Amino acid sequence: MTDQIKELIKAAKERAVKETDSEPEPALTSAVDWPVDCKVGLGLEGAVACETTIGYVNGSKGWLIYRGLDCFELSEFSTFEETSYLLIFGKLPTQKELDEFKAKLGKYRVLTQEEWDAVNALPLGKGHPMSDLRSAVSVLGLLDPTSEDTSVEAETEVAIKLIAKLPVITGIVARTRHGEKPLQANPDLSLAADLVRMMSGNEPTEEDARVMDVCLILHADHGMNASTFTSMVVNSSLSDMYSSIVAGIGSLKGPLHGGANEAVLKTLEEIGSPDNVDAWYKKAREQKRKVMGFGHRVYKAYDPRARVLHPLAELLSKRDPKIQSLYEIAVKLESAVISELGKEKKIFPNVDFYSGIVYAAMKIETEMFTPIFAVSRVAGWTARVLEYLKKNRIFRPRGIYVGPAREEYVPIDKRG
Ligand SMILES: CC(C)(COP(=O)(O)OP(=O)(O)OC[C@H]1O[C@@H](n2cnc3c(N)ncnc32)[C@H](O)[C@@H]1OP(=O)(O)O)[C@@H](O)C(=O)NCCC(=O)NCCS
Repeated sequence: MTDQIKELIKAAKERAVKETDSEPEPALTSAVDWPVDCKVGLGLEGAVACETTIGYVNGSKGWLIYRGLDCFELSEFSTFEETSYLLIFGKLPTQKELDEFKAKLGKYRVLTQEEWDAVNALPLGKGHPMSDLRSAVSVLGLLDPTSEDTSVEAETEVAIKLIAKLPVITGIVARTRHGEKPLQANPDLSLAADLVRMMSGNEPTEEDARVMDVCLILHADHGMNASTFTSMVVNSSLSDMYSSIVAGIGSLKGPLHGGANEAVLKTLEEIGSPDNVDAWYKKAREQKRKVMGFGHRVYKAYDPRARVLHPLAELLSKRDPKIQSLYEIAVKLESAVISELGKEKKIFPNVDFYSGIVYAAMKIETEMFTPIFAVSRVAGWTARVLEYLKKNRIFRPRGIYVGPAREEYVPIDKRG
């Protein structure tokens, strides 16, 4: 079964190479000579924040690379644990290093009684699960006596704790929302398999565990995206790792970022049937509505993560006619968007377009999609925070003041 997943990923990679062959190969890295001359657009488009060896996104070729390794190969052969090690420590681990890292993740995954009681005492389930997650990470920070130590060593240990603990909190959030009993971690399982178990209450199938592992690998890092940058900005004041990750979760929550996967599924449900796609799309364009799951600041080619997730969504959709219908709507919508906006504006599906179908096929509630994204992205957030911490300089861009220079102060009783 997992061989079939490998074959699907391999074929997705072959398509990616074929379709972007004519795009020029850019120089991968070059030493930065500060200050850098660059043209900055709104939303800091084009701005350069730092040098990094963690990950590289090439928008015209559709490349996503972690520490020199292609995301297609990582999703075919790696695991989320190994990929997290790669992001944090800068190289693939030896078997011994991986075993030790997994043992540590397993140890931290089991919440202490104090952590368990504190997280479960929160008023979870009243708002969005991302707000629950944000609050729970904050509480874990309160309980960690090392949290105020901002040395690279101490923050690295906190990074590992957070990678281990986010799946457990996500499981608690997923279950308490519906009055179900939360589950403690099982360190004998892979992080991906345990995440599925702690959310659903059932031992995952081999297929579900591997697909979740691939999803976590693909979402782990993605350049200087909003939530990563947010985490780095917070840590650059030498605040602390928990505050930085709490802020990253807050940023990821929005529908223009991680929240898009949730919005995609709602869109597909709103469309309702493949027969309604053309009319829905025409109306959306007339209303100048953005189609969720499409477009990207960096990718002007097909997002490689969507290339992998598309065939996995197709594979899993066969389990349930309702999901199959959502998949068929998605395929038709993709073709409508690409035939117009693909040509005009280089808008293609992004990572969020097919991930929702994959999760829905695993019977995961729509509101939990973005917390799963956070479970994965915490590896990238922490890796980049740690990298920046080693040569830290507080972030401090400028705003261009366009208001009046000097106004006269008018007493309140004289204001019109
Ligand atoms: C990802 C996103 C925020 C990137 O934003 P950005 O780099 O600021 O790009 P803009 O929003 O300025 O879009 C550039 C142009 O493409 C259009 N466009 C971008 N994404 C679009 C979408 N999903 N549907 C329709 N049109 C889109 C914009 O309307 C704009 O057109 P204009 O030049 O005629 O005004 C944006 O594409 C988006 O909102 N997508 C939908 C949400 C989503 O899927 N987010 C997940 C990202 S992984």
